[in-house]
Order: sequence, then C-alpha cells, then structure tokens
Amino acid sequence: MIAKDFIDKDEFAHKYNEDHARSYYHKHRKSWSSRLSDWREQGMARKALNYVGESKNILDLPCGAGRFWPLLTEKKDRSIIAADSSVDMIKIATEHCPKEMRPQIKLLHTSAYNINLADSSVDTIFCMRLLHHIGDAEKRRKILDEFYRVTRKSVLVSLWVDGNFKARRRYKHDQARDLKNPHRLRNRFIFKREEIEKEFSQAGFSIATHYDFLPGYSMWRLYVLQK
Ligand SMILES: C[S@@+](CC[C@H](N)C(=O)[O-])C[C@H]1O[C@@H](n2cnc3c(N)ncnc32)[C@H](O)[C@@H]1O
Repeated sequence: MIAKDFIDKDEFAHKYNEDHARSYYHKHRKSWSSRLSDWREQGMARKALNYVGESKNILDLPCGAGRFWPLLTEKKDRSIIAADSSVDMIKIATEHCPKEMRPQIKLLHTSAYNINLADSSVDTIFCMRLLHHIGDAEKRRKILDEFYRVTRKSVLVSLWVDGNFKARRRYKHDQARDLKNPHRLRNRFIFKREEIEKEFSQAGFSIATHYDFLPGYSMWRLYVLQK
C-alpha cells in the first residue's frame, strides 16, 4: 500500500487523479495513430536502452500507467523501480501489469524533485514525457541534479525540442492562445535545443546521443545522457 503523503507537485501534476490515470492508460492504445506513435516511442526507447548497454536496475520515473514496463522487463535479470508522484497512476499501472512482470517491478511513490532513493542507486534513469511539462529552468535543474545524484551511469530523457515543423506550428498556436488569454496556464513547453543541452551539461551530464521521433517534423526527442 502506498501512502498518500505530501509530495512536491506542479500545477499540471494535479490532473493525474484516478479518472485521468484510467484515460491515460487508454490514451496510447485507443486509435491507430496513437498506437503508431506509441510504437515509434517504444522503438526509440529500445534503441536508447541498447545504446547504454547493461543496466541491471532502472528507475522508471515517471512510470505513469506503466506504458514502458513490457520493454523495460524484457531482460529478465533486470529490476525496475517504477516511480511516480501520483498514487492513482501507480494504482492503474499495477492493475494492468501482467503477472509475469511483477517480480521485476518495485513501486515507489516519490517526486522527481526529491527522489526517495540513495545516491548512485540505479544504473539508468528512464524519464519519458516529464520534462516537457516543466517550464521553469530552476525546477528542471532541481530534477536534473536529483537524476545526477541517483544514477550511476545514464539518464534517458524525452522532451520537446525546436527546429522542426510541429514546433513552428505550436509556437504560432501558443502565441494566438496567449493573445486571447494572457493569463492562461501553460503546461507543455518546447525547448531550444542548444539551451536544454546546456542545462544538461551544467548539471554534469554529457550527451551521448539522441533519437528523434520523426526528424524535421516531430518535436519529440529522446536524449541519452551520461554521468
Ligand atoms: C505524461 S505522463 C508520462 C508517464 C510515462 N512516462 C509515459 O510516458 O507513459 C506524466 C507523469 O508524470 C507524473 N509526474 C508529474 N510530476 C511529477 C513529479 N514531480 N515527480 C514524479 N512524477 C511526476 C504524473 O503523475 C504522470 O504520471
């Protein structure tokens, strides 16, 4: 049983209640286009995992609805710490987790700002679809510092970058929405590639490689960072 104790949360993170968790579980499965996109993301993650080589223990943070557990548990000698700041997301993920994967997965209710694990306690941190929600550079630095403390070797992190068709379209769209409603809360952000890469190196990481979802078109990029 996971305690619902106090945890650092951003505005956007409050939406991950039980209803949202259930719809998030189905989101990547419901249409052919979402299944295609999930397939592509899983492929990028597989390449990145192969790139970093042997990782006996991986922190999946945030694990969300456990979308990547089948991939992460493919290697039977690997253990996964599946962590999220939403108890409801963890609950939905475990409800859908196939029995055979369970022995490899330990659950952890924690925040990326303050990871409840010792220094250098995992080989790799696997962080999909979190950083594009964090618009504040100081907050990103706090998360990256925690990643640096907790990983022994590498971090795989996905986020939105500029320099592609979707980013240009999104900038225009965001500008129009800001004009209509200057006080609206934004909960997804596109990063300038050189700026985010500078943030990675300021936190002590080197960039080993990256994978683009669809080069020139899509905003999604998965970075492989090394300590
Ligand atoms: C868009 S989902 C991504 C989940 C999963 N990585 C995936 O790609 O399917 C974002 C997740 O981040 C979690 N989250 C938000 N803020 C967090 C924080 N500060 N620490 C840990 N998890 C957080 C939410 O609860 C949610 O499960």
